[in-house]
Amino acid sequence: MMHAHYFIWIWIHFSFGASEFYHPCQKICLCKEGAKFVNCSGANVTAALTFPPETEHLDLSSSNLYSVPSKALDSLWKLQVLLLSGNYISRIEARAFSSLERLQKLDIQRNEITVLGSSFSTGLNSLRDLILSYNRLQKLYYRNFQNFENLQKLNFQNNNISSIETGAFRSLTRLRQLHLQNNHLLSLHNGVFSMLQHLEVLNLEGNRIKTIAPGIFTSLNSLTLLNLVRNEIEHIRFKTFLTIQTPGTHILLSFNPWFCDCDLQRVFAKLHSVRRLILDDYDNMTCMEPHVLRNLPLSSVDTQLCIAETVTVLVITFTVFITVVAAIVMAERNRKKRTGKHWSEESEMSYESQD
Ligand SMILES: *[C@@H]1O[C@H](CO)[C@@H](O)[C@H](O)[C@H]1NC(C)=O
Ligand SMILES: *[C@@H]1O[C@H](CO)[C@@H](O)[C@H](O)[C@H]1NC(C)=O
Ligand SMILES: *[C@@H]1O[C@H](CO)[C@@H](O)[C@H](O)[C@H]1NC(C)=O
Ligand SMILES: *[C@@H]1O[C@H](CO)[C@@H](O)[C@H](O)[C@H]1NC(C)=O
Repeated sequence: MMHAHYFIWIWIHFSFGASEFYHPCQKICLCKEGAKFVNCSGANVTAALTFPPETEHLDLSSSNLYSVPSKALDSLWKLQVLLLSGNYISRIEARAFSSLERLQKLDIQRNEITVLGSSFSTGLNSLRDLILSYNRLQKLYYRNFQNFENLQKLNFQNNNISSIETGAFRSLTRLRQLHLQNNHLLSLHNGVFSMLQHLEVLNLEGNRIKTIAPGIFTSLNSLTLLNLVRNEIEHIRFKTFLTIQTPGTHILLSFNPWFCDCDLQRVFAKLHSVRRLILDDYDNMTCMEPHVLRNLPLSSVDTQLCIAETVTVLVITFTVFITVVAAIVMAERNRKKRTGKHWSEESEMSYESQD
């Protein structure tokens, strides 16, 4: 069986001529178990290279590729792992991976990709792990991910993403990890993470997030780690995190420019009382505003933040109390005065009558 395969390959090799069409294992790639594992990492892969249909693992990392060699991948219906990292790929042609029906892992990190085409996910229904980190992506749309119904890990770390379409990830119902750290996200609006019921890890560290819609985390029923470290968050609402219903969710919030006021203190006092929410780096959270509290840990000032407010309340209460007392005293004095005058008038009258 194996030998027959080789004879066919040798026959193809000689009949088509080496310059047009050649077997990767003969010269530039390392192969194992026939051509089940093909490693062309570090070689100069040209368009003329074609891979045998039995290939299951294909390493084309750092192979000086400027585009996805779609033709070369055309008949690889057994392929399970495809590594394309560290090339110069800037765009992915339509249906580039459409015949890779068994592909489980696709690694395209460290390339120069700016957009994902609308048919990017076509054929990749078995894909579980997609790595697109260290590229130049700017926007994510639903149409980019339509067929990824089995995707479990999605990594967009270190791109240039500033916007995500509402419902962009709605077909990723099996997703467990979403890495969006070190991008340019400014806000999180409702619906962005809808349908991600199995999401366990959501990493948003190192963005520029300032506003978070209160319902954004509502459908994340499996979330165990939410990382919001190094963003632009000044304030949050209690409701925003209360909507996370998982038994134990670790929330990281340090290195944000917190505006430390009584409201914030109340939010955290309430969050600390919710047992399913764990604020691991609360001791590392520092204030940015007001100026007098800059760089002080929130945990060291939070009991004082409502003091000014308490004092104001006390002053108001005291003022009201004094006013009421004064009013009573005045009323009493007036009454006494009036009755006193009456008596004196009476007595005067009586003296007059006596005279
Ligand atoms: C391919 O070979 C390179 C060294 O040439 C090695 O670093 C790399 O790990 C190999 N790839 C796989 C998937 O084994
Ligand atoms: C790949 O091609 C470049 C020039 O295009 C050359 O400098 C380099 O040495 C080649 N690498 C290998 C491994 O052949
Ligand atoms: C990232 O996006 C910003 C605009 O949001 C742009 O100015 C910058 O050049 C982009 N960087 C890269 C590496 O594409
Ligand atoms: C708090 O900050 C210090 C120094 O930046 C770091 O070593 C430590 O791991 C942080 N703790 C948590 C819980 O994030």
